[in-house]
Amino acid sequence: MDHFLYKDGQLHAEDVPIAEIAAEVGTPFYCYSTATLTRHYRLFDEALQGMDHLVCYAMKAASNQAILKTLAALGAGMDVVSGGEYARARAAGVPGDRIVFSGVGKTREEMQAALAGGIRQFNVESEPEMAALSAVASEMGTKAPITIRVNPDVDAKTHAKIATGKSENKFGIPISRAKEVYALAASLPGLDVVGIDVHIGSQITELEPYAQAYRKVAEVTEMLRAEGHDIRRLDLGGGLGIPYTRSNEAPPLPTEYGALIREELGHLGCEIEIEPGRLVAGNAGIMVSRVIYVKSGEGRDFLILDGAMNDLIRPAMYDAHHDIIPVMEPAAGVEQQPFDIVGPVCESGDTFAKQRLMPPLAEGDLVAFRSAGAYGAVMSSEYNTRPLIPEVLVNEHQFAVIRARPTFDEIINRDTIPAWL
Ligand code: LLP
Repeated sequence: MDHFLYKDGQLHAEDVPIAEIAAEVGTPFYCYSTATLTRHYRLFDEALQGMDHLVCYAMKAASNQAILKTLAALGAGMDVVSGGEYARARAAGVPGDRIVFSGVGKTREEMQAALAGGIRQFNVESEPEMAALSAVASEMGTKAPITIRVNPDVDAKTHAKIATGKSENKFGIPISRAKEVYALAASLPGLDVVGIDVHIGSQITELEPYAQAYRKVAEVTEMLRAEGHDIRRLDLGGGLGIPYTRSNEAPPLPTEYGALIREELGHLGCEIEIEPGRLVAGNAGIMVSRVIYVKSGEGRDFLILDGAMNDLIRPAMYDAHHDIIPVMEPAAGVEQQPFDIVGPVCESGDTFAKQRLMPPLAEGDLVAFRSAGAYGAVMSSEYNTRPLIPEVLVNEHQFAVIRARPTFDEIINRDTIPAWL
């Protein structure tokens, strides 16, 4: 459920007409709903009620300061994967003890910054990383709290580019080697082993892969405890999928996911952390774009939009489907026509949808890409020197630009000219 609905014949974000925002900020732009963000965060928080838990929003999904502040005010922790994300989380007022640091390639500088600024735990992914972190922490006269990410070798049944829990993926240590790797961690002076971490992939639409992974985590917890490790925290990763189409897909609900966690892991008495990104932000954001031309091609018609692959890369990169709807509500029963919906970038990959049925649209009309709040703005670029598009946050009847569109001069002036030119 989200808060982008037709009211009085036009699409609104909560109580604000999208067309009004478009008139003020220009197109294309991203627009987020505070109510949807809040609702989705709370669904997870409530799903884990009764267990000691922290929902660490995977801020890679959408990391604007205003979004982070909105979630932090509700009590959210953050899952960060770079020094930049760590700095963003801290700048948004998230205390260090609510930040977990994930990722296979943390640098010593990143470790140092997080230890100095405060961190709940590092989710460590390899032996060389353990050695580096122990050294950095020891130099700083402290111990780094860690979990070790285990790779459970389960098939998350998702797109290959976003599956992470198979043995061939670069993530974590093979779960079969947990005993020796934990022994090594316990022997390193700069590490304090607090638990286990697992994350099997993204846009997961069934509970079964989670059940398989969490069962293995429960077994490893018991085994490691028997070995004398004080396993008191389980970070269960993110990955719960969202419905990208209104009709057929119905991924499990956070309540069902929470019930599964309780069933598979509740008896262990561990503190539970989860790292949802997409389900918090995905359907809390849309991308709004304008039709530049309607072009008749040979055997097919094109809607050429002012938004492009650099603004929303998911269709080009993952063949992802996003519903695209007109901002002005079409009349009931109006005849639909197939279009290829494309952007202005000079490559054929700049195609959002092929032969998509759309109601009649004309130059100047606005359309909205639904489910674009996660992995939308954060993955955008300025390819073709198209300025990063603005982000807007709506809260009931108010809206605010939370990242402005840069001017051409601002873009050009980021380059510097060497003395010899
Ligand atoms: N935790 C870790 C360690 C992760 O690697 C990820 C996502 C998450 C949590 C959050 O997963 P989520 O709840 O959002 O599924 N750009 C791709 C998605 C990449 C996901 C990467 N890792 C896309 O647009 O579909």
